[in-house]
Amino acid sequence: MKICILPGDGIGPEIVAEAVRVLRVLRALQLDCELEEGLLGGCAVDATGEPYPEATQRLAQQADAVLLGAVGGPQWDSLPRAQRPERGLLGIRQQLGLFANLRPAILYPELAGASTLKPEVVAGLDMLIVRELTGDIYFGQPRGIETRVVDGRPQRFAFNTMHYSEDEIRRILRVAFAAARKRRRKLCSVDKMNVLETTQLWRDVANETAAEYPDVELSHLLVDNAAMQLVRNPSQFDVLVTGNMFGDILSDEAAMLTGSIGMLPSASLDANNKGLYEPCHGSAPDIAGRGVANPLATILSAAMMLRYTFAQEDAARRIEDAVRKVLADGYRTADIYQPGTRKVGTRAMGDAVLAALTGVKE
Ligand code: IPM
Ligand code: MG
Repeated sequence: MKICILPGDGIGPEIVAEAVRVLRVLRALQLDCELEEGLLGGCAVDATGEPYPEATQRLAQQADAVLLGAVGGPQWDSLPRAQRPERGLLGIRQQLGLFANLRPAILYPELAGASTLKPEVVAGLDMLIVRELTGDIYFGQPRGIETRVVDGRPQRFAFNTMHYSEDEIRRILRVAFAAARKRRRKLCSVDKMNVLETTQLWRDVANETAAEYPDVELSHLLVDNAAMQLVRNPSQFDVLVTGNMFGDILSDEAAMLTGSIGMLPSASLDANNKGLYEPCHGSAPDIAGRGVANPLATILSAAMMLRYTFAQEDAARRIEDAVRKVLADGYRTADIYQPGTRKVGTRAMGDAVLAALTGVKE
């Protein structure tokens, strides 16, 4: 198993280091994996001038899976768009054909009080957002900012293009239906068909694809209503499937229901289960380098890697059980801290997970 490790920027290196320790412990326990590290994002721009340099492209293409921290930071925000760290992330997703982004949002009962929503509203939350990741307005051409004559005078004019082919829609719908089949067999497809043709096609293809999965109950929501339902009654959802932009927005919203975006892992898969695994949160430049970031989303992303790319369900479960145990034992990083629990930093949280994994008492 070849794993490419891309720590990235901000808190990326700190949180990835803890996930790597987890993988090394599992390796010591017979998991055969080879880790190789590369540069992606702002750190890559600083070293090579490119957010997704050739050397990293080679590593990522040769690996079976990629573990990523996070990219970006204010020091790179004024660079030309093609050199921004986010381009590196979009570039690797596109180059590897990682069209299926899985973002589970699970409420760990111990963290019910850490959510900004009332505990009774978020109780029992266990949903999976399936976001299309290589199409939509994020990649559509033409795009740009230029000067045009509008209302009789030259002014800056900006435009993006939203588009989907039916094949692109069908393949992500199939991933979502298949995922629902392994869960509670409910799939909610989210669109804006009352306004956008792209999403009218999305709804039509969703309805057509439903015929292949008669055992899964398909429903539809308009995205504005979906955003509202997520905070009104989130446990109505099992699997939610949507396009790239709506999925970006709704997955951050769903993350917050669980108490902290610092808890949420993600998988981005191609058609053969090669995957890139990353926490849903960003590079958090404000707390970078201070050793206080929550490494659990990245550790849980490593668990998703073992499950989806390497079909090592047992090893994935071991990691997830270890995370449950440290939460039950009261360990909390600052983002999920509540009075009465034990506040720890990034490394100590990693230590606790390792101890839980190996069964060794601290
Ligand atoms: C995410 C992020 C990225 C996205 C950014 C950093 C380009 O917000 O993974 O959700 O929009 O996809
Ligand atoms: Mg996002």
